[in-house]
Amino acid sequence: MHHFAYRNGTLFCENAPLDGIARELGTPAYVYSDATIRRHYAVLADAFEGVPLLIAYAVKANGNLGVIATLAALGAGADVVSGGELERAIAAGVPGGRIVFSGVGKTRAEIDLALKHRIKQFNVESRPELERLSQAAQAMGVRAPVALRVNPHIEAGGHAHISTGSAEHKFGVAWHEAEDLYALAGRLPGLDPCGVAVHIGSQITRIAPMREAFTKVVSLARSLNAKGFSITRVDFGGGLAIPYAPDDEPDSPAAYARMAREVLGDLDVELILEPGRMIMGNAGVLISRVEYVKERDGRTFVVVDAGMNDLIRPALYGAYHEILPVRAPEKGAVLKAVDVVGPICESTDRFAKNRPMPPLKEGDLVAFMSAGAYGASLASQYNARPTVAEVLVRGDACAVVRRRPTFDEMIALESAPDWIELG
Ligand code: LLP
Repeated sequence: MHHFAYRNGTLFCENAPLDGIARELGTPAYVYSDATIRRHYAVLADAFEGVPLLIAYAVKANGNLGVIATLAALGAGADVVSGGELERAIAAGVPGGRIVFSGVGKTRAEIDLALKHRIKQFNVESRPELERLSQAAQAMGVRAPVALRVNPHIEAGGHAHISTGSAEHKFGVAWHEAEDLYALAGRLPGLDPCGVAVHIGSQITRIAPMREAFTKVVSLARSLNAKGFSITRVDFGGGLAIPYAPDDEPDSPAAYARMAREVLGDLDVELILEPGRMIMGNAGVLISRVEYVKERDGRTFVVVDAGMNDLIRPALYGAYHEILPVRAPEKGAVLKAVDVVGPICESTDRFAKNRPMPPLKEGDLVAFMSAGAYGASLASQYNARPTVAEVLVRGDACAVVRRRPTFDEMIALESAPDWIELG
């Protein structure tokens, strides 16, 4: 469910017409719906009613301050994977006590920063990380709350680049070593082993592999408690899939919640979830203007002003994004197969190949749908293109939550070496 729809022939975000936003702010630009973000959060929170729950939003999906602040105001926490994401979460109003720190490569400086903010939990991924964390906590005179992220060796489907749960992936501690590592964590003076965590991948369309993984996590938590540990939380990670194409029907958040409740049974723990895409994916679109329609060798290339630097998912994963004309096509408009491409000097800078589209001409606007997650957060300035602007809409109010940098700002951190005199 989202709040992008045609009204009187124009695509709107809530009560704001996308062509108006494009006129005012220029293109390309990401447009997010506040109502959709809040709805997705509520769907998940409501489905777990009665279960002690922390929804730690995965900041990597969309780290915009306005987005995190919107979620923080609803009571969300944050799942972060770097010092930078931690600082963003704090700046957006997420209390340290609602922050979970994931990732295989936490530096000592990042660990110190997180300890300073008294975060809720470190999701630890290796023995050396346990040792480093214990030392850092001891030096600060505190005990770090720890969950081990276990690797349950489950293939979750989805795209190979975003699946994480099998043995060949770098993530998590080996299933067969987990109990020994908890024993070690129990002995290390700076640690408080209090949780078990798992995350098996992203855009997982069926809940069966998740059930398998969560069942393992819950059995580990029970077995640890039987050994005298006090496991007070389990973290089921993120991974819920969203529909990208109109006929996609991934398993629903409600089915996911039913399954998770069932698996938890009477285990007396707080549940932590780390959703990213499920909250932000369909809450955002990328609007872009057609620059040229180029016919060549029997192909039609629709060249738009957004590039793979703004939305890299099609280039990186062959991902499908629906592309809608902002002005609704006339009734009976004949569709024609076109390639929708960007201006970047790379052949992978292509959003769609042979996609049946209604007639498009220079100056028309299009919207790349389902672009709210892993869109802006993966954007770059490749080809010295200004980072794409971002707008948050509530009703008919539009807030520019990230403006485009000026060219001066883009080069402000750079300089020529002092042995060259710039003319
Ligand atoms: N927790 C951990 C430890 C993660 O690694 C991730 C995503 C999440 C939570 C959030 O997963 P979600 O609920 O969003 O599926 N760039 C790729 C997706 C990479 C996902 C990385 N980890 C894409 O555009 O599809």
